[in-house]
Amino acid sequence: MAKNFYITTPIYYPSGKPHMGHAYSSIVADIFARFKRLEGYNVLFLTGTDEHGQKIEKEAKKNNKDPKIFCDELSETFRSLTKTLNLTNDDFIRTTEIRHHKSVIDIWSKLVDSGDIYLDKYSGWYSVSDEAFYEEDEIEENHGKKISKSSGSIVEWVEEESYFFKLSSWQDKLIKFYEDNKKFILPESRRNEVMQFVKKGLKDLSISRTSFSWGIPVPKNNKHVIYVWLDALTNYISALDYPDTGSVKYKNFWPADVHIIGKDILRFHAIFWPAFLMAAKLPLPKRVFGHGWILSDDKKMSKSLGNILDPIEIIDKYGIDQLRYYLIKEVSLGNDGSISLENLKNCINNDLANNYGNLCQRVFSFIKKNCNNKIPKKSKLIESDKKLIDNLKNNLSKIEAFMNNQDLNEYIKMVVGFSFDANKYFNDSEPWSVKKKDPERMKNILFVIMEQIKNISILLNPIIPIATNKVLGAMNISNQNINLDKIKDENIFDHEKELNNLEILFTKIEDDN
Ligand code: MSP
Repeated sequence: MAKNFYITTPIYYPSGKPHMGHAYSSIVADIFARFKRLEGYNVLFLTGTDEHGQKIEKEAKKNNKDPKIFCDELSETFRSLTKTLNLTNDDFIRTTEIRHHKSVIDIWSKLVDSGDIYLDKYSGWYSVSDEAFYEEDEIEENHGKKISKSSGSIVEWVEEESYFFKLSSWQDKLIKFYEDNKKFILPESRRNEVMQFVKKGLKDLSISRTSFSWGIPVPKNNKHVIYVWLDALTNYISALDYPDTGSVKYKNFWPADVHIIGKDILRFHAIFWPAFLMAAKLPLPKRVFGHGWILSDDKKMSKSLGNILDPIEIIDKYGIDQLRYYLIKEVSLGNDGSISLENLKNCINNDLANNYGNLCQRVFSFIKKNCNNKIPKKSKLIESDKKLIDNLKNNLSKIEAFMNNQDLNEYIKMVVGFSFDANKYFNDSEPWSVKKKDPERMKNILFVIMEQIKNISILLNPIIPIATNKVLGAMNISNQNINLDKIKDENIFDHEKELNNLEILFTKIEDDN
């Protein structure tokens, strides 16, 4: 069976500078994409920008720009962020591209053909900032203004002619789908949220707007533009050449394996998207994973609260591997998590510099000094050697399962544990004290610790690719050749070849930095 894997990030509104929340969704998706490649999968990893709708039109006006020109500029900053974050996305889609336009029109026509669309009038609350309709019980008053209870953004009363999608008629089929596919929505708490919401009853959904024009016009009635969420969600298939369902990309990669999203956009992905797809008679994605929010001072990071930690500033100062590691280690993926510069520095110092970084540096320099800079061959391993190596290998299937259930925190906990154990092993085995009286023993210790550094580096590779590629490269293992099978392979080292120089991996951060 072909081992294909399709993973997506949300497509971002290019309405302002990218912030840590955006960086987080993308880094998380990138880690899974990289891991699946290590497992030997042919991966398609998609990200991009969501460029239509009232929010973007408003923002462009504020900046005195034509919306397309405005998007061209800001979309570039998101595209360049993919490089800064060291993402391995295979494609970057913009909803203003022709390939996407075609796809949205096709979906619209499919929904018309299936009898799921009708014309009526919408009157209700709308948040431009969330591009979302809200029911009366989902809003509250705050300082004289109506706001959404869930997002806190201001809502306005809208009354306009609108096309509707018969969402209500998909309620039972959605519930059945969630019941048949227990892992469609993860984590479990989000699944429960969605089930409850759907069971309460679904109303038909307004899927066109007439009070502005920045969007894809409704076929045969261009007074209307297609609701930006119907437009945006379609990106996941337009990037696969849909409506050309015979295309290799579509055939190999649809349905998607996992859509990584933030919890604030769960309803769109876990309710609307599958309903649209069912109505269009297309297969549904296998999973939607809703991660929590990155908080700063226990509040959601947002422009209006002024509590934004700028990912680019942090990367410039501390490095991208450092940021990737910190976000994954300290924030529990399914839950909200606070981040701070103080914790980031502690994490860099304790986990990266003192633990993994220091271990690599010590072992490499010991080998340089004592073994002509070549990894010694093993001859006879003793119990403590085998215990160290086997503990990692025997846990490999567990580790793969963590990743495949998006349980990044358990994954990293276990890998960091291996690294602590390796440090302890090196200290306890004291190769320096046996080098004279038992050089064979010293060689075995060095083989074992290098084997362990290799394996830990492979497992950390999706999270901190730059540092681990340096380590593996210094061992003469090319990063083109890294995969999980290399963990099982104890004959990977070239014992005749000298190690390459290993630069400092992580500099410790001093207090005033
Ligand atoms: N354009 C829509 C997504 C369409 S997908 C078909 C959108 N864009 S967004 O730019 O507002 O947000 C994109 C993602 O960033 C969302 O998943 C959102 O949850 C995430 N984050 C934005 N702020 C966040 C935090 N403070 N913390 C974590 N992620 C949050 O929504």
